Amino acid sequence: MRIGFIGAGRVGCMLGKYLKEHGEGFTLAGYYSESSESASDAARFTGSEVYGTPEALFADCDAVFVTTPDDAIAAVWQRLCECETPAEGKLLVHCSGVLTSKVSADAESKGITQVSLHPLYAFSDRWENCKIIEDALFTIEGSGPRLEEFRALLLESGLMLQRLDAEKKIKYHAAATAASNLMVGLGELAIGLLEECGFDRPYARVALRPLMQGNLDAVMEKGTMEALTGPAERADVSTVALHLQALSGEDREIYRLLTKKLVALAEKKHPERDYAQMEEILR
Ligand SMILES: NC(=O)c1ccc[n+]([C@@H]2O[C@H](COP(=O)([O-])OP(=O)(O)OC[C@H]3O[C@@H](n4cnc5c(N)ncnc54)[C@H](OP(=O)(O)O)[C@@H]3O)[C@@H](O)[C@H]2O)c1
Repeated sequence: MRIGFIGAGRVGCMLGKYLKEHGEGFTLAGYYSESSESASDAARFTGSEVYGTPEALFADCDAVFVTTPDDAIAAVWQRLCECETPAEGKLLVHCSGVLTSKVSADAESKGITQVSLHPLYAFSDRWENCKIIEDALFTIEGSGPRLEEFRALLLESGLMLQRLDAEKKIKYHAAATAASNLMVGLGELAIGLLEECGFDRPYARVALRPLMQGNLDAVMEKGTMEALTGPAERADVSTVALHLQALSGEDREIYRLLTKKLVALAEKKHPERDYAQMEEILR
């Protein structure tokens, strides 16, 4: 299957390079991007070609990955659907976590297979070792005559795939955001509070690192219930009450709501313990 990329950013470069090196069933044709410089850099990185227009790339490929920012996907998709190239049997793929594969009704009526293929991974660089892609789970959702063929080729290339229902996509993406971006928010909350206690920011990061990393490892190795420690689990009502007194505004609200989540988990872990007072102060 001949593939090309529109959008020579982080995902476009890394996925293109990976599929070129590991996807025996794929041939990487090349890149089109908003800036010709990005397209040239990506083509050099992957040993492929630069295309001058999205239509030229579409005409030359069986499958086009639209790896632009989410907001640009629909317009690119529509532009390709409206061009003169016969589209039947082609595939359009995007990597957005929140959009479903049904980007365009025109694509469906033209016999294009539409696919959403989302990596549960944060790509921060275009030029990393693309082997890291094998650690990421990709969710796949789509419709059209060539979906199963495409899925089989991705599996052959070594990608870990998980099917997802289109209607679950937004909730799924909220989960991904909780696991990645909201962790950053929680880190910011803890660092900010340590700053208020006299730590400078770099030192606060050093201080928190074993705590945050140890917890993350425990959650992943043992599960949330087994990883749970701290005053919420122990039903130390006075400690949690003091924390709530010391915090204010959004920080207090975040602490309160997350602690409610922990108490619900603690109740399952220790059904014999009484958490009624704890629930009361968190109300
Ligand atoms: N990065 C991640 O960690 C990650 C993870 C999962 C999913 N995703 C998804 O992957 C997709 C791409 O994300 P990314 O992080 O790779 O984005 P990115 O690094 O910002 O790259 C986007 C690329 O698209 C080009 N572009 C923008 N508008 C365009 C248009 N109208 N036509 C053609 N090219 C255009 C950009 O401009 P230039 O040509 O000027 O460079 C840039 O090269 C998004 O759907 C995103 O949700 C990203």
